[in-house]
Amino acid sequence: MIILAIETSCDDTSVAVVQDGSLVLSSIVSSQMEHSQFGGVVPEVAARAHVANMIPVLDEALRTAGITMDQIDSVAVTKGPGLIGSLIVGVNTARTLAKQLDKPLIAIHHTEGHIYANWLHKANSEAPQFPLVCLTVSGGHTNLIFMKDHLDYQIIGETQDDAAGEAFDKVAKLLGLGYPGGPLISNQAEKGHAEAFTFPRVDLTAKPARDEIGFLVDPEQSLDFSYSGLKTAVLRTVKEETGNGERKLTQSQINDISASFEAAATDMLTRNLERAIVKYKPRSVLLSGGVAANRTLRNKIATMLGESYPKLKYFYPEINCCTDNAAMIAAAAHFHAMADNYTDPITLVPDPNLKLT
Ligand code: KG4
Ligand code: ZN
Repeated sequence: MIILAIETSCDDTSVAVVQDGSLVLSSIVSSQMEHSQFGGVVPEVAARAHVANMIPVLDEALRTAGITMDQIDSVAVTKGPGLIGSLIVGVNTARTLAKQLDKPLIAIHHTEGHIYANWLHKANSEAPQFPLVCLTVSGGHTNLIFMKDHLDYQIIGETQDDAAGEAFDKVAKLLGLGYPGGPLISNQAEKGHAEAFTFPRVDLTAKPARDEIGFLVDPEQSLDFSYSGLKTAVLRTVKEETGNGERKLTQSQINDISASFEAAATDMLTRNLERAIVKYKPRSVLLSGGVAANRTLRNKIATMLGESYPKLKYFYPEINCCTDNAAMIAAAAHFHAMADNYTDPITLVPDPNLKLT
């Protein structure tokens, strides 16, 4: 089964052609550079750029895959969540293609796309096994998701404020590194010392309470995340190190703050993932989303699993499949097609606040 997928939820215009949910025939991503001067995505600019990029990216995806429109079995698209102006461009392109070509249409939640990036490039035998726990960390989401089977999602942990990727982006801006911040922080961190500054590993586990007889009751360890305290701690450190903006940070200070921040951010993710493993006893552990490209995080989780849970299978997407791309949307769409979950092109509308159900 050949699926053509479209992803335009944020600032990447992407079209991919994927066979049987794993073989990538083409995956074209046009990343909008227009936003770097603003230090973040400007929704109106993103929507306009998607309009300009969509047809050239679609053409290139078909040309690279070496197929024509009529060889496609289904069209898939990200329905949400995301920026409404961006989503409209992808959804309307997909609706038009499906209607004109008389092909079935499949609507995908952006986060399930990230999860299913772990099925790309994998034959059935080496694909993730259920039940599984997936840590999805991107610019918009920080979720721990438990799956008993395909398309069955239970959110068991989530951020109470910023997403992990958003924290990387904001700290990068604070350090004057640019946007998107994740890879930039990561590059500086490689040259810095992770112990140079002590940043908090925020834990939302409640304080121990007393039962009716007065014994201390151990609270259940929280699987939720919070990045605002860490962000504030970095801000405070930058103020201290620069004498409230009197001096500029030196390159080695930037490297050390980056390394210490990255260490704290990835420790929190790894700690809660381990708690989820203990509680849900999965057969596979998955990492996904833009922050999954972070090598420190990938390695930290590998070390935790290797030392304490060596039988667990660990999956993470190839680096270029971690950040937004349409191939992951096609992978998720493959499993929806197997379950006959199609959508009517006449009535499909984007949903910027779509929930994962
Ligand atoms: O999944 P994604 O492309 O978009 C959303 O769905 O949000 O994730 C983008 C996020 C950005 O916040 C970016 O800074 C972060 O992923 N990111 C990274 C790395 N590469 C991208 N964060 C940490 N380390 C990286 N190497
Ligand atoms: Zn994403």
